[in-house]
Amino acid sequence: MTTPAPFLNLTNIAKSFDGVHALRDIAVTIRRGTVHALVGENGAGKSTLGKVIAGVHGEDQGTIEIDGVRVSFSTPRDALRHGITIVAQELALVPTRSVIENVYLGTEPHIGPFVRTRALRSRYATLTEDSGIFVDPFAYVGDLSIADQQKVEILRALARGSSLIVMDEPTARLATHEAFALRRIVKQLRDAGATIVYVSHFLEEVLDIADDITVLRDGRVIRSGPAAVESPQTLIESMIGRPLAAAFPPKQYPEGGGRPMLDASGLSGRGFHDVSLQVSPGEIVALTGLVGSGRTEVVRALFGADRSTSGTVLLDGSPYLRRKPWRSVERGIALLPESRKLEGLFLSFSISDNVSLASLKKFSRGGFVRTGHERAAVSERLAEVDVRMRNAMDPVGLLSGGNQQKTMFAKSLLTQPRLLIIDEPTRGVDVGAKRQIYDLIVRVAQEGMAVLVVSSEMEEVIGIAHRVAVMRQGEIVGTLAGDDVTEHAIALLAFGSDDLMQHPQGRNNP
Ligand SMILES: Nc1ncnc2c1ncn2[C@@H]1O[C@H](COP(=O)(O)OP(=O)(O)OP(=O)(O)O)[C@@H](O)[C@H]1O
Ligand SMILES: [Mg+2]
Repeated sequence: MTTPAPFLNLTNIAKSFDGVHALRDIAVTIRRGTVHALVGENGAGKSTLGKVIAGVHGEDQGTIEIDGVRVSFSTPRDALRHGITIVAQELALVPTRSVIENVYLGTEPHIGPFVRTRALRSRYATLTEDSGIFVDPFAYVGDLSIADQQKVEILRALARGSSLIVMDEPTARLATHEAFALRRIVKQLRDAGATIVYVSHFLEEVLDIADDITVLRDGRVIRSGPAAVESPQTLIESMIGRPLAAAFPPKQYPEGGGRPMLDASGLSGRGFHDVSLQVSPGEIVALTGLVGSGRTEVVRALFGADRSTSGTVLLDGSPYLRRKPWRSVERGIALLPESRKLEGLFLSFSISDNVSLASLKKFSRGGFVRTGHERAAVSERLAEVDVRMRNAMDPVGLLSGGNQQKTMFAKSLLTQPRLLIIDEPTRGVDVGAKRQIYDLIVRVAQEGMAVLVVSSEMEEVIGIAHRVAVMRQGEIVGTLAGDDVTEHAIALLAFGSDDLMQHPQGRNNP
């Protein structure tokens, strides 16, 4: 085997935002035809480095060389001219346009409309054939699953002739089998000669896919070299600067017998059917299943964000009719949604305001909202979830992805709910911060909160839940508790036994 020639060379790269050093003295060599992973805690600088490579951010200092020739990118277009594109942490597609339009947006040949469509169609056919990535060209992007949207982004990058693609947490929002498919695509692209810079918090995934790994901490390179010498432990230690004893806090089961805080029965609505579910105070119940199995729909209906067509919901024993989000908040339900950008946070508002927004009522006394009491409570919650920030008055949009997620957590804790519903609690959160979030979940449960967690991460479900309800095609197909909660039992229920062999690979045991 020959070592691929060095392709992209970064030396002494620095980047800061208003005095915040996001990157310092970065030296990394990315070899052509390899998958080069970037790992590190939330805020370590992974996305910033990806964006510097792809020309989204100009570097303040340092040099970038491609095949020994110095280059400088002031825009993504400059980088694209050298074959470099980024598939960002938050996807950037036009939902109201078709797949094929998105793939060729801004690059389509400007000839007559009819000829253009035909030319595009055949180009698209070749593109999918060559890449092995298939998506219906005429589907609206807004109707596609996240996994398919990601494929569209990759197709778009390939259509633009990219030979180096930066992928920022491409599997963070995918189900296990989708993540597996995506990794296969990445390997395929690499084997065809492409170079992939791959950002991920899933260390097993990184070890499975990467040829080289760069570990970042506080904007600096801790280590950069072959993946073969790394293990989850070595990566964690260099990422967070200390060993991590255990991924999950010890499980303590609540005393049973009390009245459930949430008692839903026969709930039906769009995407789910005849769902019955109980969560008692002190209990952590996981709702799992494949993406698209109806989990998010169920919790949205419980919260009143979507309508349900039949069924009843009892809250602490009393019927909860005409569910609406504001009424749910009043009745002590908090929902931490899956998509922070779309529904969770106002990116241009301050971190502090985002946290207090849902609790304003609690803090308003005679018309005065901004009290010292509120500010103290907000900073306490922010510290509790360990949001890494400069100032709570900064816009939340400036935080790294994982820190935005933690901010949402702080926001829902501030409402002091009796029932806390969390849709994918640790999406995009680093391993150290994950453990902090699990500790928090366990703590609030021990204090008597009822917790319902929607999660696709098998390890997480097994690690924290007292009980696991598994959904398939809109129905709860089984509930597991105690020693019955195993990866195999969950997978059997989630896939249906017949399909199991088609998806033998979990994300956590590639
Ligand atoms: N546009 C910006 N303006 C101000 N600060 C920024 C901006 N982009 C990033 N930062 C800061 O730079 C640092 C590194 O952020 P970056 O997004 O690169 O982290 P990350 O490693 O990708 O983290 P995560 O795992 O949470 O996505 C953080 O302190 C972040 O707040
Ligand atoms: Mg990031």
